[in-house]
Parts: sequence; structure tokens; C-alpha cells
Amino acid sequence: MCGIVALVGSREASPILLEGLKKLEYRGYDSAGLATISTKGSSDRGFITCKKAKGKLVNLLNLLSKDGAPGNIGIGHTRWATHGKPEVRNAHPHLDSSDQVAVVQNGIIENYTLLREKLQKQGIRFVSDTDTEVIPHLISEALTRLKQEGVASKGEMLFLAVREVLNLLQGSYALAVIWTETPDVLIVAKNKAPLLIGFTQGEFLCASDSTAFAGFTKTVLPLEDKELALLTPLGVEIYDSEGKRQYRKPSLIVGSEKNIDKGQFRHFMLKEIYEQPETAEQWIARFLPDKLPTSSPIAFPFKDSLYDSIEAVQILACGTSRHAAMVGAYLLEQFSGLPSTVFFASEFRYAPPPLAPNILTIGVTQSGETADTLAALMMESERRSTLKDDLFSSRVLGITNRIESSLARQVTNIIDIGAGLEVGVAATKTFLGQLLAFYGLAIMIAARNKNRSIQEINDICEELKLVPNYLRDLINNHNKLTEKLAYQFVNTKDVIFLGRGINYPIALEAALKLKEISYIHAEGLPAGEMKHGPIALLDHKVPVISIATHGVVFEKVLSNAQEAKARNACLIGIAPESAETQIFDHLLPIPKVSEWISPLLTVIPLQLLSYHIAAQRGLDVDQPRNLAKSVTVE
Ligand code: AGP
Repeated sequence: MCGIVALVGSREASPILLEGLKKLEYRGYDSAGLATISTKGSSDRGFITCKKAKGKLVNLLNLLSKDGAPGNIGIGHTRWATHGKPEVRNAHPHLDSSDQVAVVQNGIIENYTLLREKLQKQGIRFVSDTDTEVIPHLISEALTRLKQEGVASKGEMLFLAVREVLNLLQGSYALAVIWTETPDVLIVAKNKAPLLIGFTQGEFLCASDSTAFAGFTKTVLPLEDKELALLTPLGVEIYDSEGKRQYRKPSLIVGSEKNIDKGQFRHFMLKEIYEQPETAEQWIARFLPDKLPTSSPIAFPFKDSLYDSIEAVQILACGTSRHAAMVGAYLLEQFSGLPSTVFFASEFRYAPPPLAPNILTIGVTQSGETADTLAALMMESERRSTLKDDLFSSRVLGITNRIESSLARQVTNIIDIGAGLEVGVAATKTFLGQLLAFYGLAIMIAARNKNRSIQEINDICEELKLVPNYLRDLINNHNKLTEKLAYQFVNTKDVIFLGRGINYPIALEAALKLKEISYIHAEGLPAGEMKHGPIALLDHKVPVISIATHGVVFEKVLSNAQEAKARNACLIGIAPESAETQIFDHLLPIPKVSEWISPLLTVIPLQLLSYHIAAQRGLDVDQPRNLAKSVTVE
């Protein structure tokens, strides 16, 4: 989703802005732009150079290599279209009518239509279809008035103008503003969209997420909602919406600053699929070390209050994270004996269930920035506080891959899945990390509640320790197998994935993976539901991919697969090799493991198959059209 970078300092801004934008590319975007202010040839007033290009960053780079964008201050943006098509005129930065104020924004200004109409009545001509364009015009209008009122300094004038305009905006935003009359002042602000300030000596970089700071600084301060910051080469001042100065220390970004590169792989997605054994290995080393007490077999750092007297679990998530949550809910119910419900975070926000006591609420988001998930958690916290549910804050848990994210600041109890930065828009290793987090939680709760015997707890823990090796073998064996199989499906239009029980969410996840990177229509179904309608879709052109692992529904899934075969569907099995699984036209074999841990393995051939189909279709696997890695708007 949109990425912001903004710089004030003493070096040429545009190369640093471009570098920052490059590091935010993985978030997903369809146009890019930047604006700088230079004072060359004039003493106190500068001029804005604004460059924008449709498509990839390289187009902006080409524009800049011709004409450049001089100045030590600037704002940059990668845009993921919401209001208005991905065209140059809709790309950010947006300027006021006199080209004196430039703004980049990430979020949605919900009342922009009213604001736009008002400005149009005053004679303002809009050049874009965006919600953002109202902002520079409103700031410009406020500046004109403040000038007449004779506010002391220009910097203060810009600060007051932005603050005034923010009070008019409804919705979510992170934004950065520059003005030609203050060529060394950068104003940034945020509300319900992320924005961080990175500090070095005499130079400050603001960005939508911490990846943009790699190579620049590790000292970072996240802005809180409704805060504004005034940055000059001399320092940073932070204020709340009332104009009260805020004092907070920046902190160090944890973790090593790894280079974002694909290594020997053609795409990040394939690299990240290959990183999954390591993700599992590290998870086991952190949370499942040997010799933990049987009453507390997982090394989670949480207080007893997180688990005590919990009667049910509700999980809020979107997309792939929701699929991980569904496996989690299955484990929490079937293994740990706790009623568990998964909600689309976006639905929960406006239709939550009636409040019930003693609920553990879990928010799952790999990016830690998904607006719907954060807002759903916030809403839940607010409605529980009205009921004086004092235990809510200790009974809320976040599962994320980004420990420096908004989720990690919003929620005290965090499971950091520690999968390392995932660049491919299609989640793979973070999905595995989320699954593992749920295994840990389910085992912990089952042990504490004595819902499972010591033997059962030990068995699942021991089996989990074998997962990295299983994954290694699976990935090595299936990469070639799936690459070969993918050729057959390059021109396929529809695919059906079937799963049951704990593997039903894996069927959903497989369908999502295939859709998002190959643009092939795919549906994931509980295998038993096929005969209630979807079976009408089947013919020889629709492959059916069926997940059949040993356990309570093994034979049932095979019968459902037979029903598809009888309709001439090409049948692919994700199943252990056995006499029964010979019914499949193609088998992607998985080892014989307990049904409990099977989702950790069944997902692998499905990720690889989607990857190879998309790659063979020649598509942009890592940055599929229309998608964003971090969905920071509602
Ligand atoms: C995953 O492949 C998707 N790109 C998408 O569904 C994603 O899982 C969803 O947007 C939620 O993201 P989050 O985990 O960062 O909250």
C-alpha cells in the first residue's frame, strides 16, 4: 500500500528519497513521485520540483535522471490507487494551485468530497481524482489567512496551517508537507496509518515503515495517532493535536539490517518458501527448547493472567493471517478444548458478537499494520473498557512478524514469529510462522488446562521438532515436481481446492495464493460441501486439488475426490503415498505425520504449485497487480 518517505537534511534529498521508496516497493504500488524544494538563486524562498511517473519506480528514476530534483528537503511516495486510477495526475505529491505547497499522503480522507466541493466553489481547480488533493489546497488557504494575521515565523505558520487542516479531516492518514517559504521545514502527521521518524546527525528521514531506514539509521521514533512533528536540520519537535509538545525518546530498531535481495532465486516468493525450514528451526529454538516443565511446555513470556479463566477465544485477522487463525481456532478447540471463533477483522468492526466474559482476543497480522485488524482490536478494547473489563488488556494477544509495528505498540502481549522481512506480497514464511505461534498457544493452553495428557503434549512437541527437516525435504523434492506439473495449468481458468477439518483452511490459503499471484480464479472448499453446489462447475477443464491426510476425515476426503473424478476433473492429491491415494492423477506426496501437524506440511506443495504457475505465466510474482503487502487503509 502507499509508502511515504520524507527527508530534511544537508544532502541532496532525491537520491535518499528514491532509495527509501525502493525499500518500500514491496508494500505494493502502481505509481510513484517525489517533490523537493531548492533555494538556488533565491535567499529565503524556494521552488518545488515535482516528478511523478506511472508504474514502477524505474520510470520515476528515468525521469529524474534527465532533469533531477534539486534540494535538501523532499517528500516521496509510492501510490496504491484508492481514489482515482493509477495515472500520473493522481500520483503523489499533490500541490496547491500556486505550486507552493506539496503533500504526500497514505490513508483515506473520508470527507474529501465535501471539502473538495467547498474548495471548488471558491474557484479551486482540481487536477486529480484523489482524496489527497484537498489537503495542499486547504493548507494553502490557511497559510494565506495566517500570513494576514501576522503569525511570528514561517515555520510556525506552516505548522499551524497543517494542524488546522488536520482538524478538518476525517478518516485515516499519514502525511508529509513542504512549503516553498520554509525550505528547511518538513511537517509530518499521522492518524491510524503508520509513520516513523528516523534520526541521524542533522538529517531526519520519515517513512511508512522501518525497512526504509536500512542503511540510514537504526534510531527511530514512531509517531502516535493525531501527532504532528516539525522537522528541521536542527531537530525534531513533536506535538499532539492540541499543540502540546510531546517528549519521547527514539528507540533502536531490533534485528540485524539484512539486505533485501533475492540471492540466487528468481523471485522473493521462492526464496521465502525456501526459508521456511529456518523459520521453523528458529521458532523451535526460541519457544520449544528442551527440558521445559510439562505444565508450561512453551517458552512464551506471558503472565498467567493471559491464560487464567479463559472460557473462549476470538481471533481477528484478514487474508492469509485469517487462514492461519482458522488452523489456530481448530487447534484451540479440538486440541485444547476452548471454543474459538475467527472473524474477518473488517466485519468484526461493524458487527461484533455480543460481549461475553473471559474471552481471549487475538489479533493476527504479519505486517502489524493492517488497518482493519488494528481497528477491530481497538474497537474491542474500547467496548470492553465501557463494561469495565479490567482484564481485557491482559487478555489480548497479537501475533506479528514486525515487532516494531503498530500492532506491537497497541498490544502488550505479542508473539513475534521472527520470520524475517517478507518481501513477496504473497505471504508464505509468515503464514508458517503464524501457524507455529498457534501451535505454541494451543499446546500451552492444553497443558495448563490439563485438556491433554502429558504424553499427548510431549508427542506433539516432539513431532513439531521434526518439522524443519520435513520442510527441507518437502521443498527440495516438490520444487521440481510442482514446476513440471505447473506447465499443465498455465492456461487454466478455474481451480478448486478441497480440504477438511484442520486442512480446510489450507485449501482456502492455497486458493488465495493461486488467485493473488496467477490471477486464476480459485476456490477453497470444505470437501464435503462440494456436492451442495460447486460440483456444478466441474468438467475436464477444472482441476481439483485435494488435501487428504491420515486422520478423522481421510476416507471422507478421498470419497469427495472420487466425486470430482467421476465428473472428469483432473485430480491432484496432496497426500501421503499409499494404495488409497493412487486415485489421484497426480500426487504431490507428503510424509505420514499426525493430522495435528499436517497443515505445516500440506501448505508447502501448494505454495510451490501456485508459484510455478504464476512464474510460468510470466507474471510479476512478487508484486502482483492491485495488491499491497501492507494494507493500511480500510
Ligand atoms: C497474503 O498472501 C495476502 N497478501 C493478504 O491476504 C494478507 O495476508 C492480508 O492482507 C493480511 O495482511 P497482514 O497479515 O499483514 O495483516
